[in-house]
Amino acid sequence: MTCILLFCATSLATQNQRIPTTKKFREAPKFYNAPHCPRILDDDTTSNKENICLSSSDKIVHVAMTLDSAYIRGSLAAILSVLQHTSCPQNVFFHFVASASASSSLLRTTIAGSFPYLNFRIYPFRDSAMAGLISTSIRSALDCPLNYARSYLADLLPQCVHRVVYLDSDLVLVDDIAKLAATPLGGDKVLAAPEYCTANFTSYFTPTFWSNPSLSVTFANRKACYFNTGVMVIDLNRWRAGDYTRKIEEWMDLQKRMRIYELGSLPPFLLVFAGKIAPVDHRWNQHGLGGDNFRGLCRDLHPGPVSLLHWSGKGKPWARLDANRPCPLDALWAPYDLLKPPFSFDS
Ligand SMILES: *[C@@H]1O[C@H](CO)[C@@H](O)[C@H](O)[C@H]1NC(C)=O
Repeated sequence: MTCILLFCATSLATQNQRIPTTKKFREAPKFYNAPHCPRILDDDTTSNKENICLSSSDKIVHVAMTLDSAYIRGSLAAILSVLQHTSCPQNVFFHFVASASASSSLLRTTIAGSFPYLNFRIYPFRDSAMAGLISTSIRSALDCPLNYARSYLADLLPQCVHRVVYLDSDLVLVDDIAKLAATPLGGDKVLAAPEYCTANFTSYFTPTFWSNPSLSVTFANRKACYFNTGVMVIDLNRWRAGDYTRKIEEWMDLQKRMRIYELGSLPPFLLVFAGKIAPVDHRWNQHGLGGDNFRGLCRDLHPGPVSLLHWSGKGKPWARLDANRPCPLDALWAPYDLLKPPFSFDS
């Protein structure tokens, strides 16, 4: 357990030499609803912001993200991009999951410092309980317990939240999140995400998995395709009813005993959901812009329109920009960067 947490800290230290503090980030402008938007959360009183269950929660766009000091710069950029491109920014509610051992007051001041009008709540995630379930993967940053928080949203978020859009911290939207949130989850689908059926699905699991018929039968009669878990629309009611958190944990538990996959939090999602998800247009997750997991080479966009740019993979745009070695597409992230330039003297 100590090892895993140490891995995280190490990878964070190399990615983020400077520990961000509140003063380092600019304040974003206030964003206002368009006239057609239903008025739900635009009362500025704190109590109203906190009591989302009193509001007509289903008209709110609920967004879940994780929050930690290493990725906070990415998170702030993602939040800004959401607000800037939605026509009803005051109807978006952010649910931030942070490690229970992190300073939630520092995270809270940082968020509120850049977004004084934001509707949000921070949920402590007991990642020490998580550590026992995590086995090490090929990229140490993937082993951070907070990476697994997306499997616990149904437990963490209030019961009155029926649907949530989960977003990673290394992405920006350039389109209205309300469109993504409105993705039809017909029938009995629990989650929606863009599927990539040309990706080699076999490669996400080990030969140990495929050669064991009692395991590989999992994907029998399923048109299983890879999907990226960094952008998902989740029906929390169906998730709760089907107890999917426990199903994911069961696979993680098995992984501890026999190595059935190499990556971190993704394969358990594939095991439980691949071939059973509602499709989302690929424009909503132009992923892989961080490059591969080994060298972080520059990647190009996939063909087609773009609603969301995702720097999944090893390289992060802020780190490459700081190092003066940006990839061409990192220029599309830079406009959302709220970090104050170095040596700026304004408070
Ligand atoms: C898919 O990946 C597996 C395992 O990595 C490999 O053995 C197989 O040749 C690959 N198939 C294709 C079509 O590339």
